[in-house]
Amino acid sequence: MNPLERLVRAITAREFRSTREHELMCEVLIMSLAGAGFVSPNPFVGALVLADGAEVGRGVHRIFGEEHAERAALNMARQRAQGGEIFVNLEPCNHEGNQPPCTKAIIEAGIRRVIFGGYDPNPLTSRQARPVLEEAGVEVVGPLMAFATARLNDSYYHWHYCERPLVTLKLAVSLEGRLSAASGDSQWISGKVGRGYGHFLRQTHDAVVVGVGTVLADNPRLTVRGALLAEFMGEYRHRLKLRQPARVILDPGFELFHRREVEEELEKGLREEAEHLDTPPLNIFRKGMPVRGEIPWLIIAGRAGAAPAGVRLLPGVALLELEDKHRLSFDELWEKLGSYGIRSVLVEGGARVARELIQQRAFTRLDLVIAPVLLGEDGLGFSPVLGLKHVEDGPDLKSPIAVPLGKNVLVSGYRTDWLVRMVKGLGR
Ligand SMILES: NC(=O)c1ccc[n+]([C@@H]2O[C@H](COP(=O)([O-])OP(=O)(O)OC[C@H]3O[C@@H](n4cnc5c(N)ncnc54)[C@H](OP(=O)(O)O)[C@@H]3O)[C@@H](O)[C@H]2O)c1
Repeated sequence: MNPLERLVRAITAREFRSTREHELMCEVLIMSLAGAGFVSPNPFVGALVLADGAEVGRGVHRIFGEEHAERAALNMARQRAQGGEIFVNLEPCNHEGNQPPCTKAIIEAGIRRVIFGGYDPNPLTSRQARPVLEEAGVEVVGPLMAFATARLNDSYYHWHYCERPLVTLKLAVSLEGRLSAASGDSQWISGKVGRGYGHFLRQTHDAVVVGVGTVLADNPRLTVRGALLAEFMGEYRHRLKLRQPARVILDPGFELFHRREVEEELEKGLREEAEHLDTPPLNIFRKGMPVRGEIPWLIIAGRAGAAPAGVRLLPGVALLELEDKHRLSFDELWEKLGSYGIRSVLVEGGARVARELIQQRAFTRLDLVIAPVLLGEDGLGFSPVLGLKHVEDGPDLKSPIAVPLGKNVLVSGYRTDWLVRMVKGLGR
């Protein structure tokens, strides 16, 4: 089993039963990820059509605004769909958006049975499919894996329940939770598969955020690289085109503008990468991509009024000025990024950004990639929690999963209040 399959198995474990339906739904969930990077603000959706138990069609929602997974699978199956079954992770849509309703396509194709993973949280269509399909004589089974469907599409559910981007804080840590050795050395704590998972997160999030300290220490390119992505996705990598996230640097004093070479270096790195990319890195959302506003490829966020006067910005670079009420507020940053059309944010560190984020309770999900190394007590920690007397007084993660990733182990879980909201939403 490759690492991506292992991740999906861990996510589906609590709802999994040894049935044909559950096996096929896992397959559909994996398939749906072929839309990663191109369907936001829509969800990842995959569909399988079966006739007499044999697969006759499969489809994925690949690009925002284009064909839905159910129609793609039905088009492949053609008349063989008559009297057959369709498996789809998300309840079929029942409204006219960029595409006609999938309920209509299912009825017209003569499908006998629909098996779906979870309800769609979008109020325009939520829970509408079942009555329409049943009225037309179609049997409807589901939700079969509501929690796994929501978890693999957490930014989509988060947006509909909170109208804010989902924020994943991802850190590579040693066994004792250190980000780097005392010297600041942290490259590469994780192995190839663990780093591959980091590239998968870049591909599946709309924007990636780092602090200026990390830019100055590591000069990260913050791009998705195909070879590393393949370390995590294995053969599934080939179902996916690369797409670069918007890059956000948290730089309260706009220090970067006093160090032009950093910005130039970033741009040079991006140009070099362009040769190895399936899509160009600049203005990635313009050509042939979903039109959802102009998301700059590089956003530098800092204190209002702190940027030097007359600063020259490269094309596609934006300054975001945040109010300074003692500390910059992450909520304000997320709201502003949300207004660009960004629905998911990956925060990659460093230590001070992670501490502030935890302190302000401004993240949704924490992904720790744990490496089998010790970096010592004077290494850089990320937890701001001080003076706790009892275990139950501290923050904890809900619904955690642990997945082996080569020589690393991923531990991933959600902040309690968000999870409570999601579970309530699922039972609505
Ligand atoms: N293992 C990993 O996963 C990982 C990942 C990334 C980086 N790292 C390591 O972490 C180190 C860099 O960490 P770092 O702590 O030096 O830098 P950093 O966290 O990357 O950036 C720090 C900057 O962010 C500012 N900041 C953060 N939150 C803020 C808020 N709410 N309001 C205002 N300013 C805010 C800090 O301001 P103040 O100066 O005012 O605090 C500072 O200017 C490097 O050694 C790097 O290798 C490790």
